[in-house]
Amino acid sequence: MDYQRLIKEAYEAQKKAYIPYSHFAVGACILTKDGHYIHGCNIENAAYGSTMCAERNAVYHAYCVGYQKEDIEALAIVGDGPVMISPCGACRQVLSELLLPDTPIILASRTDYNVTTIKELLPLSFTKESM
Ligand code: THU
Repeated sequence: MDYQRLIKEAYEAQKKAYIPYSHFAVGACILTKDGHYIHGCNIENAAYGSTMCAERNAVYHAYCVGYQKEDIEALAIVGDGPVMISPCGACRQVLSELLLPDTPIILASRTDYNVTTIKELLPLSFTKESM
């Protein structure tokens, strides 16, 4: 699959980041199986712990408009750091519940990308089956 359009959409989402504290803009985009692109960006807060990451906003956004894990084709996450972006631990936990284990996750920079899955990013995860 060609992920260039999805990565481009994630960079569009990144432009909306609200980042007065870190000045580090992250963008994310979900492609749904019916062809919609659903954006997320990081939204910070003076109470730092209330900040929400771009990829969580994207997946929450998708669920809020009626999609569920089976409907998601792929997720792209983009940033402008010195190394390819990789989701934080809290995002991995959320993605492990809200994406299928093998859904492609594209970690991208301006020039390159890697394709991974939540199964790979968070092995031995705690899920509802663990309880
Ligand atoms: N951030 C994300 O949005 N996604 C990640 O995968 C890593 C971190 C955000 C949170 C915060 O607004 C800023 O990047 C710096 O940590």
